[in-house]
Amino acid sequence: MPGTLRLGVNIDHVATVRNARGGRHPDPVRAAILAEKAGADGITAHLREDRRHITDADIARLSSEIAVPLNLEMAASKEMLAIALRHGPHAACIVPEKREERTTEGGLDAAGGHNHLVSYVAALREAGIRVSLFIEPDPVQLDAAVTLGAPVVELHTGSYCEAFNRGDMTAFDRELHRLEKAAAYGQSVGLEVHAGHGLGFETVKPVAAIASVAELNIGHFLVGEAIFVGLSESVATMRRLMDEARGAISGAAA
Ligand code: PXP
Repeated sequence: MPGTLRLGVNIDHVATVRNARGGRHPDPVRAAILAEKAGADGITAHLREDRRHITDADIARLSSEIAVPLNLEMAASKEMLAIALRHGPHAACIVPEKREERTTEGGLDAAGGHNHLVSYVAALREAGIRVSLFIEPDPVQLDAAVTLGAPVVELHTGSYCEAFNRGDMTAFDRELHRLEKAAAYGQSVGLEVHAGHGLGFETVKPVAAIASVAELNIGHFLVGEAIFVGLSESVATMRRLMDEARGAISGAAA
């Protein structure tokens, strides 16, 4: 029977709105605490090299003020490694980072980047931080994650969500199938499998129904929806949809 599916709420874009005016409002730590009360199992924050949303001070406050695990998204750079080692978050998700991109546009090349990544994975693991690699749903990348010694992968759901958003249901089915196959393969080679990027109320259920996925990380949609219904309701609705999708497969297995 599939285990429970955790929800990691990414609060980056609360910081985006705050930074638009340079003050302290809205506070991403307050949002994290609210998300926690509404059903988040963890909080995710991406400290980018250019500090466009989350800042070093936010990471320091999140580390001491939230009760649920913190997942730090970070590039494989010396600067970010030092910050991760200083704060010791529960988890670190290594993501590719390009200065000119609007968001994390594709997965990490864990296979091609082995020599660069291996020391980062080892250093984080030695510090007791659970390492995940943000990769495309591709068996080559999953094998590379195993070779690197990463215990967790997060499958990039961007192409799946984009196919839905442009109404291309053939591509949507193909991308969903890729995610399903990659998640099952990841689990079969001993990886814990997460997924995320671009998910919303309309796209979450098929991914949540993949039995081998243990965690979803969702941010932009939840913060955008919070403008209309408030963050608590936005997170609680996502939680409910995930639970419904999981309940359906548990029920089918019973
Ligand atoms: N997972 C990873 C690794 C990410 O980089 C992001 C975006 O920061 C997310 C999940 C969340 O994506 P979104 O904000 O589109 O829900």
